Amino acid sequence: MEPDGAVLKRRAAEAALGQVADGMVLGLGSGSTAEAFVAALGARIAAGELRDICGVATSERTTVLAQRVGVPLTTLERQPQPDLAIDGADEVDPLLTLIKGRGGALLREKVVAASAARFIVIVDGSKLVTRLGQRTALPVELVAFATPLVTRRLQQLGGNPALRRHADGSPFITDEGHVILDTRFAAIDAPDVLASQIAAIPGVAAHGLFVGLAGAAIVASHDGITWRRR
Ligand code: 5RP
Repeated sequence: MEPDGAVLKRRAAEAALGQVADGMVLGLGSGSTAEAFVAALGARIAAGELRDICGVATSERTTVLAQRVGVPLTTLERQPQPDLAIDGADEVDPLLTLIKGRGGALLREKVVAASAARFIVIVDGSKLVTRLGQRTALPVELVAFATPLVTRRLQQLGGNPALRRHADGSPFITDEGHVILDTRFAAIDAPDVLASQIAAIPGVAAHGLFVGLAGAAIVASHDGITWRRR
């Protein structure tokens, strides 16, 4: 039987399809919820219900999925401003500030979300938090050379960074060739301030705080679909 969470993620993904119209350029996120959206999008295209769609993928994994389900792909060079980006998140606060990056695609995800005319986040209700950092470590993507400096600076900011590793102990390497420090904070009270402080550390390529990017969230729970807007 399909686990509950997967059903809710699929419902959020299907609700997002209602925002897609013929001819749109879409930012295609990463992670299981975004993948449910890409799969559903491919099915609509195959059925002839959506035409002239193309996507900008935020990870190699999403690229492979889009190709498999028949979603045509393009690049930001060709389409610098996608009409709509759809992606999941690890945490969503009441102002629609997000923590993203459990899947390790945060850098490309942030570039695509910032490029798009609209960014809608799709989540199941378990991702809603009153304060960021309650459940999830904040992923910080950096050039490996800068690991000692970035580690020290994150500690000075009150974080507890740990290098993300595969099960065999080798470091996780992102699609852009970087490493990730998953950084626990006791509480993130001012995400905009922390976002600026982390972005200013030399060697940091991106962090998982998405401030002011999501215009709306589609939340699937056992009570149905709800929209949250900023
Ligand atoms: C990947 C991400 C994902 O969107 C986030 O981790 C949520 O994933 P899922 O939909 O599998 O719960 O940011 O980098």
